[in-house]
Parts: sequence; C-alpha cells; structure tokens
Amino acid sequence: MDLEAEFERAVAAERRVEPRDWMPDGYRRTLIRQIAQHAHSEIIGMQPEGNWISRAPSLRRKAILLAKVQDEAGHGLYLYAAAETLGADRGELTDKLIDGKQKYSSIFNYPTLSYADVGVIGWLVDGAAICNQVPLCRTSYGPYARAMIRICKEESFHQRQGYELLMTMMSGTDAQRAMVQESVDRWWWPSLMMFGPPDAESANTERSMAWRIKRNTNDELRQKFVDMTVPQAEKLGVTLPDPELRWNAERGHYDFGQPDWREFWQVVGGNGPCNAQRLAHRRKAHEDGEWVRQAAAAHAAKQAGRREE
Ligand code: ACO
Repeated sequence: MDLEAEFERAVAAERRVEPRDWMPDGYRRTLIRQIAQHAHSEIIGMQPEGNWISRAPSLRRKAILLAKVQDEAGHGLYLYAAAETLGADRGELTDKLIDGKQKYSSIFNYPTLSYADVGVIGWLVDGAAICNQVPLCRTSYGPYARAMIRICKEESFHQRQGYELLMTMMSGTDAQRAMVQESVDRWWWPSLMMFGPPDAESANTERSMAWRIKRNTNDELRQKFVDMTVPQAEKLGVTLPDPELRWNAERGHYDFGQPDWREFWQVVGGNGPCNAQRLAHRRKAHEDGEWVRQAAAAHAAKQAGRREE
C-alpha cells in the first residue's frame, strides 16, 4: 500500500499522528496554518482584555484578569511549540503574523469599551472557544490534541470567571445591567463569526474533516454554541440581539439569524475596527523584545561552548 493510502486509512481508524510519522505535505501545511492561526489568536487575544488590567475595579478582579491574560500567553506558547514539531519556525511564524501574512481570529479586532466587556469576552468569546476547542482534543495530530487538553481546562476557568463577573454586575445597579446588555449587543454577532464562514463557503472544512484535523464543521459548532448559550442568557437576564432566535421543537435546536458575513470578510481581510492597532502593538512588542532574544541566544551559545570544553 502506498504511504498516502496507508496514512488515510490510519487517520480514518482514529490513529494519532505523531511528529516522526510520515504525513502528506498537505496535512502538514494545513496543520501549520491552523495551529499558527490559533497560536496568533491567543497572543493577539491578550490585547483587548489587557487593556483593562490597570483599570480593574478591585484587587480581586485585577488578580483574576492578570492570571487570565497570562494564561493566554501560555496557550500561545504551547501552540507555537506544537507547530514547531511540524518543522515550522516560531520566529518565522511571528514574522508572518506581524507582516499580515498569517491570520488570527476575527474576534480580537473589536474594541473593549467597558469593563462589562471583560465578563462578556469570558462568557461568549471563551465560551465559543471552548465549543470549538473541546472537539480538537480529539484532533488527529498528537501534539496539537495534547496541547488542547490543557488549554480547554484553562478556557473553562476563563468562561466561568466571565459569567460570574456578569452575574455580579446583573445583581448590581440599573447602570451596571445596562452596561452588560450593551456589551452583549456588541459581542454576540462577532462571537458567532468565530466559528468561521458557513460550511458552503468554508474552503478547508471538507479536507480537514477527512484528515480528522477538524472534528465538526463550522455550522455544527455554531449551532452547538447557540444551543448552549441561550439558556445561560436567560438565567443571566440579558437579551441576545437576534429577532430570529427561537426554539425549534422539530429540529431540537434553536433557530437563529445569520451574522453579517460581509463584515466578517472585511475583518478577516485586515479592515476591522482594530486590526491595524493590534498588529502595530504586536510589532512594537516584538521589536522591543529584540535585545532579550539576542541575550538569550548569546547565553545559550556560551553554555553550549562550555559543554564542549
Ligand atoms: N477569524 C479569522 N479567520 C478565519 C476565521 C475567523 N473567525 N474563521 C475562518 N477564518 C479563515 C480561515 O483561516 C480560512 O483562511 P485561510 O484558508 O487563508 O487560512 C478562511 O477563513 C476560510 O475558513 P475555513 O475554510 O472555514 O477555515 P478552517 O477550516 O481553518 O476553519 C476555524 C476555521 C474553525 C477557526 C479553524 O481553523 C479552527 O478550528 N481553528 C482552531 C481554533 C482557533 O483558531 N481559535 C482561535 C480563536 S479562540 C481563542 O483564541 C480564545
């Protein structure tokens, strides 16, 4: 049997692919693309909430937010490490990100305008991330699947801290409740866009599903997220801004409206509200860190020299 057919058979039988196994070039390329985009999303995703660390309303909220943003950095590092097992170079991936040649999640191109956004990001954005990432714990590539297990545990803490924050605000003043509702109105549709374009327009889904890289289609996960979130919104006492949202007893799912896909493609194409700001910030942080990378490389070279003596 040729290598490619053997590979297809093994992934169809749910065998995990490990770094030293033979794999088709397309499989390797698809994984590097997805894992790199995922890693970039975690790193860029530190910015919208990082914005609020210095303005957190209490020491407790500041400590929680700091821990959460640090977790995102850790997630980025596990994922870059997973990409490196495929032969990618982390420095090159970072260069591609800051040159605008590789994507990161559309969601992080929206501004955080109030403290309620910290809660809503935890609830909706991290909730959507969990929905998308729990199935990836069963993705066919071993290092990616193992990274996802730890990431999902931490994401689940992030989601709960967001919901708890919102519960607190909703039992506060009218102004706090209004702040939460205003934030939900802004984040609902971008959260639905996180799952990617509708299946009919998703260029990669079919191939990625066959390779067991993706375990569900974009639309399946979007539906799961809506079904999971509507009862949570009811409990919280907020309204989701979709007039078409209603239970469909026949399907056993909620029906819902479509996000503005033109807006989605604008944001993915670099023209969202904060794309330029996010990349400029990341580029500056990378340039400012140049001396640290040089010092670390010089130190490593010195240590290696000592070992050879
Ligand atoms: N934001 C930016 N780009 C997106 C998004 C999005 N929300 N959704 C899809 N795209 C891009 C795809 O990367 C693809 O572009 P490319 O071919 O140039 O790489 C294009 O739009 C078409 O989409 P699909 O064919 O559906 O792409 P894919 O099969 O990769 O599915 C998905 C997209 C669902 C995001 C998948 O890559 C995935 O599950 N990734 C892992 C999870 C992840 O990256 N999460 C990041 C946000 S969560 C967080 O960080 C808290």
